[in-house]
Amino acid sequence: MVLSKTVSQSDVSVHSTFASRYVKHSLPRFKMGENSIPKEAAYQIINDELMLDGNPRLNLASFVTTWMEPECDKLVMASINKNYVDMDEYPVTTELQNRCVNIIAHLFNAPLEEEETAVGVGTVGSSEAIMLAGLAFKRKWQNKMKALGKPYDKPNIVTGANVQVCWEKFARYFEVELKEVKLQEGYYVMNPDKAVEMVDENTICVAAILGSTLNGEFEDVKRLNDLLVEKNKETGWDTPIHVDAASGGFIAPFLYPELEWDFRLPLVKSINVSGHKYGLVYAGIGWVVWRTKDDLPDELIFHINYLGTDQPTFTLNFSKGHSLFSHLSLSKISDFGSIFFNPKFRVLNFLKLFGSELEYIRDFPISRSNFKFRKF
Ligand SMILES: Cc1ncc(COP(=O)(O)O)c(C=O)c1O
Repeated sequence: MVLSKTVSQSDVSVHSTFASRYVKHSLPRFKMGENSIPKEAAYQIINDELMLDGNPRLNLASFVTTWMEPECDKLVMASINKNYVDMDEYPVTTELQNRCVNIIAHLFNAPLEEEETAVGVGTVGSSEAIMLAGLAFKRKWQNKMKALGKPYDKPNIVTGANVQVCWEKFARYFEVELKEVKLQEGYYVMNPDKAVEMVDENTICVAAILGSTLNGEFEDVKRLNDLLVEKNKETGWDTPIHVDAASGGFIAPFLYPELEWDFRLPLVKSINVSGHKYGLVYAGIGWVVWRTKDDLPDELIFHINYLGTDQPTFTLNFSKGHSLFSHLSLSKISDFGSIFFNPKFRVLNFLKLFGSELEYIRDFPISRSNFKFRKF
């Protein structure tokens, strides 16, 4: 079953806009052709069809940016044929990913000793990162319930009703009940008090959002942490927190360094962030980092040795392109690194993405935190 439909499905042939002997007879759309055509003609036909797509540079949808420095394009093209999973073959690629994970873990104040390395992985985006984080919570909770001799077949997760669709996917795909805190008139993010009321013994974690998809507002992770610490003390549970920082993880540390939302809060056990939502990065990169090694159950890590040495992996896919890792490492060491990490630049980019959308919905009550963003 093909799920998406953008053009008429009734046409069985490809309509070409250029004249050539190769398109004298129409080319089938849904079946292999009887005869082959030269690659130059095939290229032209497909290229012409693609011209009917929108212009990516004008696309502000889904907050993902569409321009990168020419040097980054070169790096991406130089690495586009590498399969990231072949770590023995591409050790430098693995090293670049590890550097990024460590930089991000430090940025989010992971409690790392001087020589300790961070725990995390590069993903396709925040959605994959959230699936992995959610699985780690589910498995940890199951292990705990098994050890206590209690039922472990009805896990739930508490979120605001404003969560991005990837949380609903996680819940449905991995059979976890999604308990959503309803939004209220004038308050369009998760109310931490209500969230903590909904927590029970089967709650694998509470997920808070830093940069709500609906209006960009930060949820109050500090209050959530404090309330949950109290509830855990009263009940003997140890319900943890995940922060979905897809759209705010690279904003908060620069603009609000004093805001406690990350691993400074003891119950925050994992954080995801999108790499591609802040400018200068094409779609296809996200991250998840865990507070400590203990927060990622060992049995979720697969050890593969197809190419010789033992290589641990925790991803949903096996094969994966790696080209964006080199760009991101570059952005941290070069001149455009300093631009990339310049808060003002980031916020301008963020505003270009979020702010311009908000312009369209002028009547929407915009929270104080959005006004703060708007000042830049
Ligand atoms: C809060 C939040 N979480 C997760 C996602 C999913 O991110 P990605 O597109 O990187 O998978 C989004 C995307 O808009 C988001 O806003």
